Amino acid sequence: MTQCCINPSILSADFVNLEAELHRIASADAVHVDVMDNHFVPNLTIGLPVVKRIQEVSPVPLDAHLMISDADRWAPDFASAGLASVTFHAEASIAPVKLARELRARGAKAGMALRPATPVEPYLDMLPELDMLLVMTVEPGFGGQAFLDITLPKIRRARAAIDGSGIGVALQVDGGITEETIIRAAEAGANVFVAGSAVYGADDPAAAIGRLRDAGSRTLRTASAE
Ligand code: DX5
Ligand code: ZN
Repeated sequence: MTQCCINPSILSADFVNLEAELHRIASADAVHVDVMDNHFVPNLTIGLPVVKRIQEVSPVPLDAHLMISDADRWAPDFASAGLASVTFHAEASIAPVKLARELRARGAKAGMALRPATPVEPYLDMLPELDMLLVMTVEPGFGGQAFLDITLPKIRRARAAIDGSGIGVALQVDGGITEETIIRAAEAGANVFVAGSAVYGADDPAAAIGRLRDAGSRTLRTASAE
C-alpha cells in the first residue's frame, strides 16, 4: 500500500518561536518549509540562511517548497544545504529536467510543483526524473485558503500515470488540507499531505497530525483494496 505522509507547513507556525514550533510536530513525516520571493507569489517568507538554521534544529527532515522565480538559478543551493527534499515550480523553471537532475546530484530528492491551472500532461515524460510531484490545491502564496476541488481530476490523472509508469514517485497535495478534504485528495490518489492551518491552528498539533494520518491512511487502504 502507498505510504501516507503528513508534512505540516510552518507557514502557520509562530515564526518567532520556530524551534519550539518544530518540536510540536516531531511526530510528522517531514516539515514543509514554504519559501516565497514576493515575485513568483505575492508574499515573502524566508530564505536559505533561515532554512539552514531550521534544518539544524528540526527533529524531522525538511521538505522545501520553493515558490520563487528563476528556480534554475536558486533551487540547487537548497539541495547543497543538505535538505532532504527540494520542490521547485514547473512554471518557474526554464529547464526542469536539468534542474531535477541537479537537485538529485546534490543529494536531495527532486520535487516539482504545479499551480492549480497548470496541466500535468506536458510533464508526464519527466516522472522518472522526479521523486515527488506536488499538485497545488490552492493558488500558492498564502495559508488558510479553501481546497480547490477542480484539482481532483488532475490528481487522479497524475496517480494513473505514476502507477502506470511503475516508478515510485510521491504525489503531494498542498493547500486547504483538513480532516475532510484529505479524504477527497487521498481518494484521488495523493499520498503526501501538506497541512498548515489544520496542524498549527489546532490546540494540539500532534493530535491533529494523528487525526490527519488516520484519515489519509484509512482512505489509501480502502482505495488499494478496491
Ligand atoms: C501555500 C503554501 C502552503 C500553505 C498551506 O502557498 O504552499 O504550504 O502553508 O497552508 P494551509 O494548509 O493552511 O492551506
Ligand atoms: Zn507549500
